[in-house]
Amino acid sequence: MDFLAKYQFEIDSALGLFFAKNKVSEKTLHEAMKYGVLLGGKRIRPILGILSFEISQNSKTKISRKQVIQNLLSLEFIHAFSLIHDDLPAMDDDELRRGIPTVWKKFGEANAILTGNALSFFAFENLAKNSPSILLPKLIKTLAVASEGMICGQIRDLDSAKNSSLKNILKTHSQKTGQLILAGVRMGGILANADSNKMKLLEDFAKKLGLAFQIKDDLLDATGNTKILGKKTRKDLDRKGFVKLIGIEESQKKLEKLIREASAIARRLKSKKLEKLSEFVLRRER
Ligand code: IPE
Ligand code: IPE
Ligand code: MG
Ligand code: MG
Ligand code: MG
Repeated sequence: MDFLAKYQFEIDSALGLFFAKNKVSEKTLHEAMKYGVLLGGKRIRPILGILSFEISQNSKTKISRKQVIQNLLSLEFIHAFSLIHDDLPAMDDDELRRGIPTVWKKFGEANAILTGNALSFFAFENLAKNSPSILLPKLIKTLAVASEGMICGQIRDLDSAKNSSLKNILKTHSQKTGQLILAGVRMGGILANADSNKMKLLEDFAKKLGLAFQIKDDLLDATGNTKILGKKTRKDLDRKGFVKLIGIEESQKKLEKLIREASAIARRLKSKKLEKLSEFVLRRER
């Protein structure tokens, strides 16, 4: 098993345990949250958080790996919330995600809105319960700022006609997708008490990877296979996004350049695992 599968398994196990232990009084809400979080995500953001923690560990690190994973679940809750709302009829109007009906399709639109809201509060409740108290303010601020950034990106994305220059699209991508990926390395670094030089390199890596991740998402929308991807394709191709703006070939070139740059930073950090993760983002099919 490669490390990505192993880390994904660790995160999935922790998420499963979380929902077994933390029940809300309304069964529909509990089921919808579980459905929106558990089934089939790649867990890239918390994986990045674990890697950042591992790379940053030093004599000032005072927290176990298990506790780190528990804290990083909050990031996955925010991500799931972003996807649940992203699929709503008022936004991308998607009926398929991770190969199954979207939360609004399965539980109804109003429930999907409330489920997204509930997950965003769960995220901060989980941090409050599981972070070392000295790190809690920093973690809350980091996750809140990233969540707001993601939402700003989603707003820009909805108004993509106005924001359709290359410069504007890069900004939209680095917010709607880049912010939560950046939060992964920041949270991992904070949990390890990372020194500032290392944190800066990790942030530079995550900024490249975040942009690359969304360009690849747009490429998969244009050329991917619904069966493997688990979502409908050609949703953004004719309307917005990178491929619409500069075409498949140029998007692929831009993606490869960002991955080369990210890998160079991974090598400076002496992390084979970060290099492998960049490679995964380049080659992924879902
Ligand atoms: C999809 O994110 C939405 C984007 C930000 C591109 P992921 O591709 O990480 O989705 P899951 O969690 O693995 O399904
Ligand atoms: C989503 O971008 C970014 C989010 C913050 C959820 P997309 O709308 O392209 O993501 P998919 O393709 O639906 O997963
Ligand atoms: Mg969208
Ligand atoms: Mg979408
Ligand atoms: Mg997409």
